[in-house]
Amino acid sequence: MAIYPELAGKVAVISGAGGNLGIAVTRLFHAANIRLALVDLREDTLRQRLREANLDPEQALIGALDLTQKRAAIDEFVSRVVAHYGKVDILVNIAGGFRAGGPVHEMDEEIWDFMMNINAKTAFLLSAAVARHMVARQAGGRIVNISARAALSGVPTISGYSASKAAVLRLTESMAAELLQYGITVNAILPSVIDTPQNRMSDPNADHSKWVTPESIAEVILFLISDSARDISGAAIPVYGRA
Ligand SMILES: NC(=O)c1ccc[n+]([C@@H]2O[C@H](COP(=O)([O-])OP(=O)(O)OC[C@H]3O[C@@H](n4cnc5c(N)ncnc54)[C@H](OP(=O)(O)O)[C@@H]3O)[C@@H](O)[C@H]2O)c1
Repeated sequence: MAIYPELAGKVAVISGAGGNLGIAVTRLFHAANIRLALVDLREDTLRQRLREANLDPEQALIGALDLTQKRAAIDEFVSRVVAHYGKVDILVNIAGGFRAGGPVHEMDEEIWDFMMNINAKTAFLLSAAVARHMVARQAGGRIVNISARAALSGVPTISGYSASKAAVLRLTESMAAELLQYGITVNAILPSVIDTPQNRMSDPNADHSKWVTPESIAEVILFLISDSARDISGAAIPVYGRA
C-alpha cells in the first residue's frame, strides 16, 4: 500500500462514507493521516459502520445529510468543516446507489428521478459547495467522483443508472475545465462490479475473485489525491479488476 507523506494534515470530505467503498476510503485516508469530514444519510449508521471497521467516529467531523436536497444545509456543512479544520483540500463523492428499472418504455418515473438524484445531484451539490471554498482559498484542491463502467454506453434495463453515472462523467469534465486555472483537479473512477456483500448476495454464482475490491479502488483514489497525480484532470479511470 502506497502512503503519500504529502497528504498528512490535509482535510478531506468524503460522502457516502459509511458504505462499502466509503469505509475503505475512510480507512486508507486515516492511515495517510488525512483529517476527515464524513457525510452520510444517517449518523447512527455511519458511526456504527465506522466502529465495525475499527475506526473511531470521534476522530472525524460527521455530517448527516441527504445530499439530494437542502442545498443550504450542504453549504452549511462545508462551512462547518472549514470552521473546524480551517480548509478543505479534498472531496471524494462516493454517495450513490443502484436501481434497475426494466426497459425504458416500462420504467417508473420514480426510478429515473431516484437515480439522477442519488448519483448525479449529490455530486453536483456537494462539489459546488466544496469548489466554491477551494476557489476562494486559492490553494488548489482535489475532487474525485465515483461514476461507473455502465456510464460509458447505454445498458439494457438500467438506463436510469447508466444515464445518471454518465451525468457524473460530464460533471467531472466540465468542472475539470472550469477549475484547471485554480489548480483544482477533478477526476472520475469507473468501477465495474465491486466485491461487496450485497453484490455477492444478489449474484452468488458469479466468480467473485474477478470483481474489484473497495480497497483496490481506494488505492486509486489515494493516488489521484496525491502529488503524483497533480497533472491529471478530467480523467475517467476504469477500475474493473478482472471483470
Ligand atoms: N457496488 C457496486 O458494484 C458499484 C459499481 C459501480 C459504481 N458504484 C458506485 O460506487 C459508489 C459506492 O458504492 P457502494 O457499493 O459503496 O455503495 P453503498 O455501500 O450503498 O454506499 C453508498 C453510501 O451513500 C449513502 N447515501 C445514499 N444516498 C445518500 C444521500 N442522498 N445523501 C447522502 N448519502 C447517501 C448510503 O447511505 P444508506 O446506506 O443509508 O442509504 C451509503 O452509506 C456509489 O456511488 C455507487 O453508485 C458501485
